[in-house]
Amino acid sequence: MIYLNGEFMPLEEARVPVLDRGFIFGDGVYEVIPVYSRHPFRLAEHLDRLQASLAAIRLANPHIGAEWTRLVHKLVGLNEPEDQSLYLHVTRGVAKRDHAFPPGVAPTVFMMSNPLVTPTASQVEGGVGAITAIDNRWLRCDIKAIALLPNVLLRQLAIDQDCAESILVRDGFVTEGAASNVFLVAGGVLLAPPKDHLMLPGITYDVVLELAARHGIPHEIRPIAREELQGAREIWLSSSSKEVLAVTQLDGQSVGDGRPGALFKRMYALYQEYKELVMRSPAAS
Ligand SMILES: Cc1ncc(COP(=O)(O)O)c(C=O)c1O
Repeated sequence: MIYLNGEFMPLEEARVPVLDRGFIFGDGVYEVIPVYSRHPFRLAEHLDRLQASLAAIRLANPHIGAEWTRLVHKLVGLNEPEDQSLYLHVTRGVAKRDHAFPPGVAPTVFMMSNPLVTPTASQVEGGVGAITAIDNRWLRCDIKAIALLPNVLLRQLAIDQDCAESILVRDGFVTEGAASNVFLVAGGVLLAPPKDHLMLPGITYDVVLELAARHGIPHEIRPIAREELQGAREIWLSSSSKEVLAVTQLDGQSVGDGRPGALFKRMYALYQEYKELVMRSPAAS
């Protein structure tokens, strides 16, 4: 079941006019919320980021937080899986094609649920391969825009080389992955690039840094040079579906000893423990 403009219906019945500005211009924003045992994870934070994306593209939020919460819970209840990936999407609505904002047009609001697919046991235990690529996206990567063509092309570069992700480098510094945030471990310290307009402020990124702070893992938020990535002992990716995942091959070279590192294993365990806690008592998220 999906949600479209006020109605819940089977996916097959959902229709959007071809003049929707999401279709014509990619003029919209989205969120992906992981749902564990029917509890949306960090829902308030996802809704805050949605609000920030909407404000950045100058589109009024069609719902207040309590309405979004009600709609999200209802859609979760209408779908089978216990663990879901909830996709939420708002566009500037349907109007005759013209770049200028159309006056008085209602936004299109769409939500769908897919089964949540997290990394396989072998990916968690063995890590994944990644490549580096030049970050050639626009300068507002902090907006979770539905216009993802650069991310699609960058991710495909990795797939073409049998890798899971492209790690992006702009002007010599690591920004993020094509659909994930990036961390590295050097000299026993967890390093993360600072949030700015060149990366998406990941909800999972925040969770990883909160867990590091709470459990006394030395960490530093600062720009990361490409050379540091190449010499890192450990590299991790984070996202709502990847959770936290080790990169063990970068551009065909082993990262560290080519196995997920000790700090990764610790963070992975902390993350799973935290998830369990949130599932038992959602207020803890
Ligand atoms: C470009 C990009 N960066 C980072 C992330 C990670 O964000 P989150 O942890 O909120 O899923 C995503 C998620 O899909 C993304 O597309």
